Amino acid sequence: MIPGVPGESQVYLNGEFLRVDEAKVSVLDRGFIFGDGIYEVVPVYQGNAFRMAEHLDRLDRSLAALRIAQPFDRSGWIDLIRQLLDRTRLDTCIVYLQVTRGVAKRDHPFPSPAVCPTVFGMVSAWTPPSAAQRAQGLGAISIPDERWLHCEIKSVSLLGNVLARQAAADAGALECIQFRDGFMTEGPSSNVWVVRGGRLLGAPLDNRILEGIRVGLIEDLCRRADVPYELRPILREEVLSADEVLVSSATKEVLPVARIDGKPVGGLSWFETSLELRYQVTDTVGIVPFVDAGTVSEKQFPDFSDVKVGAGVGLRYVTPFGPLRIDAAVPLNRDPGDPRFGIYAGIGQAF
Ligand SMILES: Cc1ncc(COP(=O)(O)O)c(C=O)c1O
Repeated sequence: MIPGVPGESQVYLNGEFLRVDEAKVSVLDRGFIFGDGIYEVVPVYQGNAFRMAEHLDRLDRSLAALRIAQPFDRSGWIDLIRQLLDRTRLDTCIVYLQVTRGVAKRDHPFPSPAVCPTVFGMVSAWTPPSAAQRAQGLGAISIPDERWLHCEIKSVSLLGNVLARQAAADAGALECIQFRDGFMTEGPSSNVWVVRGGRLLGAPLDNRILEGIRVGLIEDLCRRADVPYELRPILREEVLSADEVLVSSATKEVLPVARIDGKPVGGLSWFETSLELRYQVTDTVGIVPFVDAGTVSEKQFPDFSDVKVGAGVGLRYVTPFGPLRIDAAVPLNRDPGDPRFGIYAGIGQAF
């Protein structure tokens, strides 16, 4: 029995659906011996796999990059996901898919002739981040990125990522922001975003990071909400002095980072208050006029000398993927250099 894994859960292994405690892989599987395989993690909301086509496109790219034969065509993968979901009672969950190069005599080069890939799939319970987690944010540490130079492949060789996550856990933090040659790369299982001067910045999509499926989503949301969005090399100093830092992944969705190496992001203390009126207009549309006031201070306690006040209106729209909220706000006591307006987009908010 594996703690935390119900033995009766059904998994898929090489053409069969089995109880997880009965599914067995050969000790000569190259995934076990060399970490020679790839995986995908697809979040499922109320029975609907989120951005499934994009996840399966990335799975195709990972297989092609490692020259592992594609075990299924697109409809075969969709069918497998559907069958896994049909066998679970969970409707908000994670689908995990893994393909390794297969079972062969232990030798580093690819087996010749090629062997049949090992295909594994399972569904795991998952609870999306709560409103409290979204409000509080996460603690992160900063560490050098010591992983290999093909981070764009979603490979099961995850030792560098595992050690980075453990370094965070050892420091009592939930996240970890990695830096290579002085520039931000990503978290061990998340992409990292930096807000500076009203712009959302992310690392360039090259071999140093995995292109998260939420990268495309965040770009779409920024375009729709008119938030300046840019992927460019980001210096460590720019991260540590950012207005905001966020992480995104299938399981974390989008969460703020509240502290890096124990220091609050955006200042040493802050004060924030808001007044919102929430009108439900139709079953899917709500309107939220609001006034926000707040200050961030570089001192240990805010001195309230620079409280900024803004007013705006939010539009909440229920989509098949969860509620989408778009807020537009203007400062009421704008100082020179402050933005003239702000537009914010959020997904999955309770209101
Ligand atoms: C290294 C790494 N970067 C980024 C991500 C975020 O990707 P996605 O948004 O597809 O979950 C992940 C997800 O597991 C990851 O492992």
